[in-house]
Amino acid sequence: MRKLIKSGTIVTAADTYIGDILIDNGLIAMIGIGLNANDAEIVDASGCYVFPGGVDPHTHLDMPFGGTVTRDDFESGTIAAAFGGTTTIVDFCLTAKGKPLADAVQTWHAKSGDKAVIDYGFHLMVSEVTDDVLLELPRIIEEEGITSLKVFMAYKNVLQADDGTLYRMLQVAKEQGALVMVHAENGDVIDYLIREALAAGNTAPIYHALTRPAVLEGEATGRAAALTELADSQLYVVHVTCAEAVWKIAEARKKGLRVYGETCPQYLVLDQTDLEKPDFEGAKYVWSPPLREKWNQQVLWDALWNGQLQAVGSDQCSFDFKGQKELGIDDFSKIPNGGPTIEDRFSLLYSEGVHKGRLSINKFVDIIATAGAKLFGLFPQKGTIAIGSDADIVIFDPSVERTLSAETHHMKVDYNAFEGMQVFGEPVSVLVRGEFVIRDRAFVGKPGSGRYLHRRRFGDAEKQAVKKPPAGGSG
Ligand code: URP
Ligand code: ZN
Ligand code: ZN
Ligand code: ZN
Repeated sequence: MRKLIKSGTIVTAADTYIGDILIDNGLIAMIGIGLNANDAEIVDASGCYVFPGGVDPHTHLDMPFGGTVTRDDFESGTIAAAFGGTTTIVDFCLTAKGKPLADAVQTWHAKSGDKAVIDYGFHLMVSEVTDDVLLELPRIIEEEGITSLKVFMAYKNVLQADDGTLYRMLQVAKEQGALVMVHAENGDVIDYLIREALAAGNTAPIYHALTRPAVLEGEATGRAAALTELADSQLYVVHVTCAEAVWKIAEARKKGLRVYGETCPQYLVLDQTDLEKPDFEGAKYVWSPPLREKWNQQVLWDALWNGQLQAVGSDQCSFDFKGQKELGIDDFSKIPNGGPTIEDRFSLLYSEGVHKGRLSINKFVDIIATAGAKLFGLFPQKGTIAIGSDADIVIFDPSVERTLSAETHHMKVDYNAFEGMQVFGEPVSVLVRGEFVIRDRAFVGKPGSGRYLHRRRFGDAEKQAVKKPPAGGSG
């Protein structure tokens, strides 16, 4: 059945206006004022913002990591995402050395296919360059529409790739129209600092931050940018936490390089002192790169506002405090890295960004949906409210004031990293391709209804937007 979303304040990365949206066959069919459609179900959005569904370009669902597996899988993770206003995710498909890339992709399809309640794509993690990998990559990019390749510069002896691998991936990305993503930290030096700390008996969670200093994130970010320049390729730096890394990205962009950056909600609102919480509670705040000294938050907000950073991903990677984070009770290096963020990313950015006057509402939409869709080959199907786009829509009530808590969140994990924080605004109803997944704050979706997204190559949207005039003629 067609739906008519009436009288909401429609917000895109460019515009804000009151209007109606007619949804037909899962797509936005019409936008106007005073629209009528006899056969359509009317959805009243007056007093609410009507945002494009959030696009979260960075999640880890059902991922083995740190000797355990993330608590949230594609079912609980995408349900939580939907409650939070996110309608598209791009999850990291982990490959195994020596095994075909296609096996990893099949594994990720098996994890997600009958579970996801929102639409999803995959990035492919690449940790080594072999003849087999080089042979297989173009096929994966073409057939699976996986047009982003992730390289870890940290997690020595686990996920870390060397600089040669990163450089080779940048070349492949350039040839194939893909975007290389990096986790930028100097893993070799960090490995040494961790061993040094443990040898001195420093085992508490705070040493996680102290052994991964900001200068090593800045160094790796600058190195990745330099290799991108050499390869004349494109780079997206995930989870940027600190001034040192922002400066490197800004410098590269000033040179005209295609270097982009993402930060995450945790780095915008939490800080290094959270790792000092007593009774091992600091373990809840172990991310890599780590939370930084508080002054970095302002640098990150400024960078989002002035375009040095383009997107905010959640980096959802949840582990229970009991039983999982506790694996590192005697050794901070054994605490599984990551936290539960998929649900609160959208609202935290709205509340801390728009409500507190740090971001315009259009910039918020860009950061939370549009920029990610563009960079990862999903625009304009995803990431905006426009005629012909998927009807992925969030009806958001800005007048609600609420408290984030594990008591009320929908992730399976046993704590909330933002416990007790007051936020303004709440997604009331959320539609994916025109169907309600959340309706009046209740889940009404169906596991398996989320669709796999075959993504376009990097830069293709621009190329296809304008057709060249036919050759010949009178000129
Ligand atoms: O601590 C983090 N960020 N965990 C998830 C894996 C990664 O490095 O993105
Ligand atoms: Zn309302
Ligand atoms: Zn990472
Ligand atoms: Zn991550």
